[in-house]
Formats: sequence, C-alpha cells, structure tokens
Amino acid sequence: TILILDFGSQYSHLITRRCREHNVYAELMPCTTKLRDIKFKPKGIILSGSPYSVYDKDSPHVDPAVFDLGIPILGICYGLQEIAWNLGGKVSPCDHREYGFAQVQVKKSEAGNASVDALLEGLGDEMQVWMSHGDQLSELPPNFHIIGYTQSAPYAAIAHDTKPLYGIQFHPEVTHSLRGKELIGRFILNICACRRNWTMEEFIGKEITRIREICGPKGRVIGAVSGGVDSTVAAKLMHEAIGDRFHAIMVDNGVLRLNEAQQVYEMLNKDLGVNLTVVDASDLFLSRLEGVEDPEQKRKIIGNTFIHVFEAEAAKIEAAADAEEAMGAAAKGRVEWLLQGTLYPDVIESISFKGPSATIKTHHNVGGLLKDMKLKLIEPLRELFKDEVRALGRLLSIPAPLVQRHPFPGPGLAIRILGPVTRDQVKILQHADSIYIEEIRKAELYDQISQAFTVLLPVKAVGVMGDARTYEQVIALRAVQSEDFMTADWFVFPPEVLRRISSRITNEVAGINRVTYDISSKPPATVEWL
Ligand code: XMP
Repeated sequence: TILILDFGSQYSHLITRRCREHNVYAELMPCTTKLRDIKFKPKGIILSGSPYSVYDKDSPHVDPAVFDLGIPILGICYGLQEIAWNLGGKVSPCDHREYGFAQVQVKKSEAGNASVDALLEGLGDEMQVWMSHGDQLSELPPNFHIIGYTQSAPYAAIAHDTKPLYGIQFHPEVTHSLRGKELIGRFILNICACRRNWTMEEFIGKEITRIREICGPKGRVIGAVSGGVDSTVAAKLMHEAIGDRFHAIMVDNGVLRLNEAQQVYEMLNKDLGVNLTVVDASDLFLSRLEGVEDPEQKRKIIGNTFIHVFEAEAAKIEAAADAEEAMGAAAKGRVEWLLQGTLYPDVIESISFKGPSATIKTHHNVGGLLKDMKLKLIEPLRELFKDEVRALGRLLSIPAPLVQRHPFPGPGLAIRILGPVTRDQVKILQHADSIYIEEIRKAELYDQISQAFTVLLPVKAVGVMGDARTYEQVIALRAVQSEDFMTADWFVFPPEVLRRISSRITNEVAGINRVTYDISSKPPATVEWL
C-alpha cells in the first residue's frame, strides 16, 4: 500500500489514481493524521501539493516522525517544500506564481549512490511537466542533491544522499506532465518495491467474500438503483454475493431520460437477474416541482421526495419480509442493510484535508437516506474510482453500453429544464436528448465524450416553417471532455454531425425551432447549466 498524505491540493485524488493505474493499492489520508492512527504499514508515502505556503501561521504539517520511518517518501510541490521545511532547507515565494507547462532538465547527481538518481532514471534528459506553485525551494536541505531543474526552478527535483527521500516541484499526477505516470511508477514500483496486485479480478472475489461475512447467513439488503454504472455494478455485486436476499428499488421520478425506467428493468431484472421493484412516483415528483425554478430548490425537492418514496417502498419490503419470517417460511431474514454505491472520490471528499473551498452546488442526492432508517450501511464500491467500477462492471458481464455510460445527475432532467418543470417540458427534453445521444452514438463519438446532454431553455425565438412564422423554444447542446469533472473542456464536433443533430431536433421535436452549441469550459462555466 502507498499512503498519500493530503495537504488539500485539488490534484491529490489524481495521485491516488495514478498509483492504482499501476495496479498498486493507494489510500489517501489527511496530512494531519498521526502515525499511530495509521493501521497498515505503507511501503511508501507521497506528500501532496497544497494551496498553503509552508511558512503560513496556520499551514498544515505532517507528523515529523514520518521522516524517521525509513519508508521511501516522495514530496510533490508543497510536499517537496514540506520535506525541505522539516529537514533544514529554505522555501521562498516566487517572484510571480508559476502556472503552466515547463521543461525539466534531468541531471545526474554524481552522488555515487544509485538510489539518488533512481526516481528520474530512464525518463529521458528532458521532461515536459505541469507546474502550479507560488513558493519554491531557495536552498537545499543538507545531504540533498539536485536531480532536475528548470529555467525558473533550480531545485525542481531533489533526492537525499542516502535515504529514500525525494521531492519534485512539478505535478506528475496531471496528464499535462507527459511522463508523470511513469515517474510515479518508478517511485512506487522501483523505489518502494510495491507488488502489482491491485486488480479488479482479485477485488471481486475478496469483496464477495467480505459482503457474505458482513451480511451473515441471514438478513436482507435493500438498495436504490438509478440505471447508472455505479448503482448497477453495486447491485450486481450484491446479487452475486447474496442472491435474492438483495432487493433493488428504482424510483421513477418523472425526470428520467426517455424510457429509462423500462430499460433499467429489462437489463437489471430480466438480463442480470437482480430482484428489482420499479416505483412510478412521477406524479408526486412533478406535482412537488410545479412552478419551481430555483435549481437548489429543485435539488432539495427531488432529494427529499426520493427519500420519502424510497422509505415507503422499503417499508413494504420490510413488512413482507417480517411476515415471511413470522410464518417461518423462508429463512432470508429481516431487512438489515442499506446498499450505497459510494465511490472513493466521495470518500476522499469527506476525509481530505480541507483548504479554503466553497460549495458551488449541492450534489448529494441520497445523503439523508440513513437518518430515519434503522439500517446499517453497506458500501462495496467505496474503495474504487470510476474507471475501476467500469472494469468491475465488465467482469460482472454488465453490457458494454451501460458500463461506458455518461454520468447522469440525480435530479435528472429537472436541472436541465431551466424554467419550471412540467410534463410537456420533460417530454420535449427527453425527445431532444434521445436524438442527440443517438446521433452521437451513430457517429461513434460517444466514448470520446465524457458527458453529453441537451438543455431546454426557457426562452422563445422566432423561426420559419413552410410559409409560417414560428415562435418556439431553444435547445442547447452540451458535450464535454473531462477527467474528473472538476474541470472540463467543450468537445469539438465534426460540423456535419452538429448539422445532422440540429436538423433532426428542429424537424422532429415539436416546440423547438432553434439549436445552439455550448462552447464554455469549466471553469468558468460548470458542466450542467443549473
Ligand atoms: P457541474 O455542473 O457541477 O457538474 O460542473 C459536474 C458533474 O456533476 C454532475 N452533477 C450532479 N450529479 N446530482 C448529481 O448526482 C447533482 O445535483 C448534480 N449536479 C451536477 C454533472 O452531471 C457532472 O457530471
């Protein structure tokens, strides 16, 4: 295991991902974690970047005892400065903040000790890297060597003379650092000598055993499914582990994509054999959404109504299970557990060291579910990143189009209808969305795009159809590429694809006479419009 100590950098989770991509298990913890609270023995430690400056009064610092463990340590950006700050070097503010690409010249240290050069060995004489820092090293700590430099950073990479301590000023974890993943691989595989035993094949077996142990021979589990990758994979995994003692519930909230509830039922129940109930609560949701325009209000209503409907359905399943128990008929037991498809990024979000960041949108849809239910929580995916969940899905024979599916927000089309949500508006958007996705798939662009959807604008524009003037609504198309949805770039479509999409939507969707394409990146825009 590699331990990543997080100082609050926006890239910390990427360090964890890169390690996992080398099939090495990595876990992130806040930098303030005390050594005695770490229950495993890491083979290496990575110190992340940070929005702080090591000299700030309230800046975070690592337990200095980590430097005496004899375990290899790699400091990235602030992590490098933290090593220097602890071991007698000097850190100073840059004349101006360095942000962007840089070329690192790799320098043989002439230390006569192979371990000093081990980090950058084989990565070439020059590396394109990504820099983002306001401070830098101005004096080496004693017994350290320079192993890389740039025009503006003389200490871009350093290594200790005899101990396995390394620091780099740039960010190898972002894809802009061209050989960054290899560099991380050199640290964890060559220097830390980690074994490459983190694979989804191994995970399935271990996790099924773990679920069976947790749940015991009796007792049922319920869980919500949405048709997305995470809940489908979690549901299928539970089904593999405990069969019909797992019961899935899908709530049709009236703002799903076209025919979605039906499709999820066919796939999950008919094809994958999962015990599933679909509850059509669209009338209730739509009546509560009537006249509401404020996005946060829409999210709140959908979140609360979801909890309400789910709990009512769960109560029915519990009552039936209790009745079966009372008759001594089946030995499946009572409902004791609630399945949640929590992923590792959510876990990181809750444990990572918090710099000064603000909530922009509330994303949590079912967070309140456990409060009233007297159920224990089971989260089989909580160690996994999205791409690991996809790999797991493929191993569990979940159909490829579902495994590769773009994310879909919990509040669904309600946050893509910019005005009030009505059945008619939902119908228009569902229709436009299905044409858009169909054409993207036909053009074989779906897998190149991270997320694509249509947005229904609450404005009307003038158009002409035949000899008549029309006055109808506008659809905005959105398609982005993104690694983690924290930042995103708009997708460059071939013009003929946009032309086909536009012509089909304006011709086939009643109520729409104009289509626009959203060319905003995140930041400053967000992926969704609301
Ligand atoms: P934004 O709009 O914040 O979106 O740039 C980033 C990602 O989050 C999704 N998103 C949501 N997902 N509930 C969700 O489950 C929400 O309320 C919500 N809002 C945005 C969005 O689709 C994108 O993938």
